[in-house]
Amino acid sequence: MKNKYRDLIEQTFDFPQPEFELKKDQLLFRGLDLMQLIEEYGTPLRFTYLPSIGEQIEECRGWFNNAIKKHDFNGDYCYCYCTKSSHFNFVMEECAKHNAHIETSSAFDIDIVIALFKKGLFNEKTYVLCNGFKTEEYILKIKELIALGFDRIIPIIDNFREFELLDEHIDHPLEIGIRIASEEDPKFEFYTSRLGIGYTDVVPFYKWKIRDHKKFKLSMLHFFVNTGIRDNSYYWNELRKFINVYTDLIKNGADIRYLDIGGGFPVKNSLAFEFDYEYMVDEIVAQIKIGAESVNADHPDIFTEFGSFTVAESGGMIFSIIDQKKQNDRERWNMIDGSFMTSLPDSWAINKRFIMLPINRWNDKYERVFLGGLTCDSDDYYNSEQHVNAIYLPEFRKNKPLYVGFFNCGAYQESISGYGGIKHCLIPSAKHILINKNEDGTFNHWVFREEQKSVDMLKILGY
Ligand SMILES: Cc1ncc(COP(=O)(O)O)c(C=O)c1O
Repeated sequence: MKNKYRDLIEQTFDFPQPEFELKKDQLLFRGLDLMQLIEEYGTPLRFTYLPSIGEQIEECRGWFNNAIKKHDFNGDYCYCYCTKSSHFNFVMEECAKHNAHIETSSAFDIDIVIALFKKGLFNEKTYVLCNGFKTEEYILKIKELIALGFDRIIPIIDNFREFELLDEHIDHPLEIGIRIASEEDPKFEFYTSRLGIGYTDVVPFYKWKIRDHKKFKLSMLHFFVNTGIRDNSYYWNELRKFINVYTDLIKNGADIRYLDIGGGFPVKNSLAFEFDYEYMVDEIVAQIKIGAESVNADHPDIFTEFGSFTVAESGGMIFSIIDQKKQNDRERWNMIDGSFMTSLPDSWAINKRFIMLPINRWNDKYERVFLGGLTCDSDDYYNSEQHVNAIYLPEFRKNKPLYVGFFNCGAYQESISGYGGIKHCLIPSAKHILINKNEDGTFNHWVFREEQKSVDMLKILGY
């Protein structure tokens, strides 16, 4: 009878997969022996596999460049990284190495750009797309960047008031953009996104405030749908409306040279994940070309701001199962040595699912379990996978340690959980290591941050 965990996976998915394979009964991630990492660093352990960041950037560039060639499209493609997905220096450095440009969301983000500029990683020719609601502080930071010589900084207007603020503070000729507020997916609680300017207001706003403006030139149009880039009628409909506003602006004399289609490329969240990135890119480029030609405009440059796509696949978390609690005949709770709420907050807050796999004991029998975190909050659990409404893991054995990994969770989890800050029930932030690959295929890894200590938290709390 086939009842090993390994059988379950091999019967359910195509396995092994490019990032996951087995060595005996243990999991290798991109060829890296995870059990060795556990032996060296212990658990709970957060890791970032740096090479994946550059690989994502280059792969995506390849898709756009192929589509541009295929469609005889005359615009360029510009890959921007949206910093809010992970602000860490090691992420930004990988992005800079791969010539990514930057999208910012707040005043402090600009300080990151300045720090990297001072290190020589970004230069005046780096595009800095300033998105988000602009406070006065944010606008003053934009001014600072202009003073440093950045001449490809494009504030993307989110609301009418911030245009006035920009006008008040910036004395320099500047290209600007407008974010269109998309209509939300019909399942949402509200109709129009609070972010950006409504479809019908864009052209009147351009004619009223920007067309004859002495300093500002409208060059970019931007939209982003919250549910991301998906092959469904909602997405294609929003893209069409976006292109319609673009062509209306052109008809009204605007010289829109850049279309920014935002972030939202999906990330592999299950071994069954399928998404045809190349097809989507091809279709987007084709649609933009049709739009531009319908108004005899030069094909615009296409910008993206992929955050999750850039970093999610670089990140993982490994926990030990430290005990099993049987609360009734059917419910077995495997307790992890950490917390979902505090280390993978999206799993709790928006029910997000990541690839979850045991690291060892793949030849053991499996059982259905729930996974519980260490906080005393009853919501601190993980009970299903993306492809099935349950979790299966090798059977719990008191004397046989079991480790479980969550993969592709390198985006947003640290910033939302308040990395290194105060945590629910004071469960500490895990040790965090970075992994790189040498030219000969071997790996090197080192500690980026030790596990958070009691004294650090108590200090924040004023003790
Ligand atoms: C304006 C904007 N651009 C880009 C992104 C990045 O999205 P993702 O991480 O899905 O690529 C976001 C995410 O909220 C966003 O609001």
